[in-house]
This record gives sequence, C-alpha cells and structure tokens, in this order.
Amino acid sequence: MAESKLVIEGGHPLQGEIRIQGAKNSVLPLLSAVVLCDEDVVLERCPALSDVYAASRILTHLGCRCSFRDGKMEIRNGGISRSEIPEAMMHEMRSSITFLGPLLSRTGSCTLYLPGGCELGPRPIDMHLHALRQMGAEIHETHGMLRLQGRLRGTDLYLPFPSVGATENIMLAAVLAQGQTRIHNAAREPEIRDLAEFLAACGAKISGAGTDTVIIDGVERLHGCVYRVMPDRIVAATYLSAAAAAGGSVCIQDCCPEDLTAVTEVLRQMGCRVYCHESRIYLQSSLPLHAAPYIRTMPHPGFPTDAQALLMAAHCKARGSCMFEETIFDSRYRHVDDLIRMGADIRLSGRAAVVHGVQKLSGTTVHATDLRGGAAMLIAGLTADGITELTELSHLDRGYEDPEGVLRSLGAKIERIT
Ligand code: UD1
Repeated sequence: MAESKLVIEGGHPLQGEIRIQGAKNSVLPLLSAVVLCDEDVVLERCPALSDVYAASRILTHLGCRCSFRDGKMEIRNGGISRSEIPEAMMHEMRSSITFLGPLLSRTGSCTLYLPGGCELGPRPIDMHLHALRQMGAEIHETHGMLRLQGRLRGTDLYLPFPSVGATENIMLAAVLAQGQTRIHNAAREPEIRDLAEFLAACGAKISGAGTDTVIIDGVERLHGCVYRVMPDRIVAATYLSAAAAAGGSVCIQDCCPEDLTAVTEVLRQMGCRVYCHESRIYLQSSLPLHAAPYIRTMPHPGFPTDAQALLMAAHCKARGSCMFEETIFDSRYRHVDDLIRMGADIRLSGRAAVVHGVQKLSGTTVHATDLRGGAAMLIAGLTADGITELTELSHLDRGYEDPEGVLRSLGAKIERIT
C-alpha cells in the first residue's frame, strides 16, 4: 500500500467545537470481553481505528460475526468455536493480550502467542500470568506460544504494580470463575471503570472498579448488552494540547473532565484558561505559553504516560523550562529526536527530559515513532513555521479517528496525501 503522509502548514490558531471519539483503551478490552458473553453485543461510539478492526478480526476468527457502521459495532455471538488465536493476529496489536483471561475462562483450554515488545520498549506480562496461575491455570510457555488450561476459581490477588492490562485480564478471567476474586493494588484508570460497567451490563457482579480494590463475584453466564464506550481522554488531551500550543479557543464536547484533571492542571500552569462544565471542556490560549515546572507520569489519577509526548510538544515554544520524568515505560522518548530536528531544545538523561522553550520551530519531514509520539509531531507541526510532513501514519491511525478532519474543522491547514 502506498505510504500516506500528513502535510501541515503551521501558524494557524485553532477555534471551534469538537466531539470526542470513543476510547481506544476501553473499546479493546470490551471487545475481548465479548468472548465471555452468550448473546449479541452492540458497542456504540466505537471508534474507527485499525486496532479495533484487528480485534474484530480476532472475534471473527473465534466464531463471532462483526459488523461496523456509523460508529456502531454489532457483534453476533453464536458461541466461541475456536480456542486458539494465530500468531499473526496476536501480533497485529499489543492489546490482544486481553483475550488471554476471557478465552481461557470461556474454553478451559486455549493457545495464544505473546504479543511481543513494542515501540515503547519491552512489555512483560508476568503479572497477568502469575495471577492466572493463582486462579488455577496451568500455563506452558514455549518460543512465544502460550498454552493455558484449567478451570478458574476466585482468590485474593496482590499486584506489585497497578498494571492496567493485568487488572483488565484478571477481571475478565474472574467474571465467570467460581467464587470471589479480589484484586488488591488494582489499576484505577477510568477504562477499568468502563470495563466493569460493561461487564455489569452483561450480568457480572463487580464492585470497587476505579478504586485500588476490585471485587468480582463469579456468575454462571453473561448475556449481551448495548453499551456506549466512554470518550477517549487521551484524544481529548491531544486536541486540548494542540489548541494550547497553536493558540486559539476550543470547546471539547462529550468528554469527562474529571478523568482529565492531571492534564488540565498542567495546561492551566502553562497559562491557558480552562473551564469545565458537565461533559465539556473550554480552553483558551493566548501565546506565548509558560512552561509548567515538572511533569511526572504516574498511574491514574497521576499524569498519564499517554499524554507525556503531547505536553512535551506543547512545551517546545513555551517560556522557561519544564522537566519531564517518565516512570511507566523505559522507552517513551522516541519523539524527542524529531522535535529536536524541528528546532526544539530538549536534553535527555535516562527517565528525565528537560525542555527549554525556544522562539520557533521549523517545519520539516518527521515520522510517527509510535501512537502518541505521532500525535506529538502533529502538535509540533501546528506550531512550526512553514510545512511539516508527518510520515508513518499507521501508528497514528491506531488511535485517532480522522485526525486531519478534526483539526481542519478547528481551522488547521492539514491534508492527508497518499
Ligand atoms: C499502559 C498505561 C496505560 C496506557 C497504556 C497504553 C499505566 C499504569 N498504564 O497500560 O495508562 O493507556 O499503557 O500506552 O500508565 N508491567 C510488568 N509486568 C506485567 C505488566 C506490566 O512489568 O505483567 C510493567 C510494564 O512494563 C510497564 C508498567 O508495568 O512498565 C505498566 O504497565 P501496564 O499498566 O500493564 O501497561 P498497559 O496495560 O499497556
């Protein structure tokens, strides 16, 4: 397929209103959860993303029929007819690992492949496997292939770190397990709450999602449901950061301001006016911005690792210096090289990055190193002098529905060229 690129003419402020797409990090575990249901499921506000299509191909392989139109994913669930997921399908997206818990729970014996590392560095799943073993699974791992079997039963599980993926996998394994499962030091990300609400709508018994202890009482079966996926808080953070950096005023509709407090707090420190009302966030930015002193990524409700690159791009032309500390992933500064090529002054040392604001960035050809790194380059392009060309868009398309259309509706000059 021909390589596409985004061509961005910088220097235009953003103005207007947008609605936020459904959350990628929520819809993918929800699609895995469908494996547990006996009946059809309809997901509304389902984003049109390459990772969503990859998950629906896995569901189709397992025996479901998926159709997607106008933001609605309908999954006809005639029963799961297979218990293995081929290696190529597992490798298509990192989140395929959330099929582990539900497929084992549903079939009693299954084969999957490790999704492998990714552009953010090694992505171990030891916590997922340890928890499933404690619930009674026998797991054999050879050359990246995982064979699992066993009838799962509830127990008390203590996570050494509040891993989002492990919390999701355990919840998905536990809803049909025998007895009660308690996850201590569980992740508190809003997507965990969304997964619990979806499962509850299908008949699961879950309490505590969104706190550090999630309690799941196993039930015999799950039925289907119609469910509206939560809005994507990182996509909202992306357009807020873009408007902050480019200047202007935007209203983000259909989002959940409480889920974005750590990000809006930084935007206020940078001098933006931010008002939240029900499901809307208004942001007004008069340039130049001022650097926030320190941004440290942390599990929710701390500053999200997924917003680190976005705010770094927004800091490149801010007055003063900001120190970033990335505590979640080892390799999450890959966007820095291209920001420096555009003229940014960024010093890296291990997990720390210090951004000294510069007067101007210059447009050039840059690439999306990973999903949020790509979004960071979009933001930088909107603030740069001249033309920025962004390549390797497959990373961006994993998480953003029509980013050029959204930005154009706000007055940006941006085109996709194939
Ligand atoms: C992480 C982010 C999530 C983000 C997603 C996509 C956190 C806490 N999690 O979720 O917000 O949306 O990436 O960018 O911010 N780990 C292990 N062993 C395991 C599982 C994880 O060592 O079995 C480590 C990881 O290497 C990483 C950390 O724990 O350093 C966080 O992992 P986890 O929350 O599981 O990652 P994701 O679920 O991908």
